[in-house]
Amino acid sequence: MSKNYYITTPIYYPSAKPHMGHAYSSIIADIFARFKRIQGYKVYFLTGTDEHGQKIQRAAEKKGKDPQSFCDEISQTFRDLSDILNLSNDDFIRTTESRHTKSVQNLWNILEKKGEIYLSKYSGWYSVSDEAFYSEEEIDTKDGNKIAKSSGSKVEWVEEESYFFKLSKWQEPLLKFYSENPNFILPISRKNEVVSFVNSGLKDLSISRKSFSWGIKVPSNKDHVIYVWLDALTNYLSALNYPDTKNKLYIDFWPATIHLIGKDILRFHAVYWPAFLLAANIPLPSRVYGHGWILSGEEKMSKSKGNILDPIEIIKIYGLDSLRYYLAKEVSFGNDGNISKQKLENTINSDLANNFGNLCQRVLSFNEKNFKLATPKTYTFNSNDLSLLDRFKNNYENLIKFIDNQDLNSYMNFIVESLFASNKYFNDQEPWNKKNDDERLNTIIYVSLEIIRKISIMLYPVIPNSSLKALNIFNLKEKDVKFETIKKHDFLTKNTKINKIDILFNKIQKND
Ligand code: ME8
Ligand code: MG
Repeated sequence: MSKNYYITTPIYYPSAKPHMGHAYSSIIADIFARFKRIQGYKVYFLTGTDEHGQKIQRAAEKKGKDPQSFCDEISQTFRDLSDILNLSNDDFIRTTESRHTKSVQNLWNILEKKGEIYLSKYSGWYSVSDEAFYSEEEIDTKDGNKIAKSSGSKVEWVEEESYFFKLSKWQEPLLKFYSENPNFILPISRKNEVVSFVNSGLKDLSISRKSFSWGIKVPSNKDHVIYVWLDALTNYLSALNYPDTKNKLYIDFWPATIHLIGKDILRFHAVYWPAFLLAANIPLPSRVYGHGWILSGEEKMSKSKGNILDPIEIIKIYGLDSLRYYLAKEVSFGNDGNISKQKLENTINSDLANNFGNLCQRVLSFNEKNFKLATPKTYTFNSNDLSLLDRFKNNYENLIKFIDNQDLNSYMNFIVESLFASNKYFNDQEPWNKKNDDERLNTIIYVSLEIIRKISIMLYPVIPNSSLKALNIFNLKEKDVKFETIKKHDFLTKNTKINKIDILFNKIQKND
């Protein structure tokens, strides 16, 4: 089995600065990437910005800017957000980079050479906001405007010469692929939507535009620019130096392990992208996971709806790790979810301050008073100790499975249950009443420290900064974080100095 893992986020439109929805996808991708790294995988984690097309051209015009400098500016805010979110991405791709242009034109040439592309005329509905073509059945009328049913965005009538990709020809091969690879599209409910869409019949896809110029030129006909989705999807390959299929990045990481996206763009990733790849005879990614939306009230949070929550503002008030933890634990992954200051505060108090923070603090202050900040010099585990310690060892494979199945909530729930169990252990064992039983006292404290270590390692992918702060108790650094060490009961060396740490999470005072 290959120990390589390639995970991507969508490349975001730099038409406006990023919001909580973008932060969400990126944080979740980062959690998976960090987990696989500490599991010992070679990981490549890609994010970036999608800079061509009419949507961007119009947004730039509205600001009176040329599209390139407009993109330069806003793309930078996405790059800055990657730092603010503490993303461990290995690359940040921009579709206006020459490495990408080269890759897209190469893919186009292959498709053309294979007879997958023909010139004709498109007439139909187009949403610039979604950069998507819609059939008559997918259109509604609302307040006198034509809109796309799925997204609610305005559509306009387009009639122009266009190149087409023979998508219809790939209907059967796609259906066969889905059935042979039942976990290609997740979650399963979304997979069913895609399959029924493909089953209902695929029409050939318009893949070039002539009425504007902001895009990658069709190599054989400079009057056309390549459809922005064909352009954008190719980023997953161009970041690996495609078409150089002999280079190390491509060899190590293609096909991608997982494209993590929002459900809004599932059709592009689960239908068009695999069809392009099948047609070009390029291996298909292993998985496309379409997560749910962060809602604002009942509606999708989106820049076009103007109902956005700024992640940077939230981070300024509550700190990054609180936000990361909240999104991982409180949003049911795969479904839509909500975030509000109220809910965030509740989670910080119950999970981070009262549960994780409290465990670290009480064990450390007891240790300071009775052991002068050192690991105990002796221990003998009894059945109570072992039953707590064993839960980590016994669930080791399950935890890996949770992550590999993108079952993030089960992973988080295991951590929360472990925290409850650990705090309960400390209460029940009453080390403060064991001062006459040296062996027992030593053992309880040793076990408690081991548990803090194990839980901090499990939390590393989710809240890396706080986890590393906690691991600093044991002088463990980022390079020492290895997931398999949660199986060890006796990792910590006896009678060794440990460090005091600052409070990890402050409880938020609430008036209600
Ligand atoms: O679609 N909740 O870019 P985009 C959760 N450029 N996730 C959300 C979200 C929300 N309310 N809003 C946005 C594009 N997202 C294309 C992608 S990929 C080759 C090209 C996240 O800026 C989610 O991942 O509209 C969604 O799929 C993506 O941002 C859309 O970002
Ligand atoms: Mg969008």
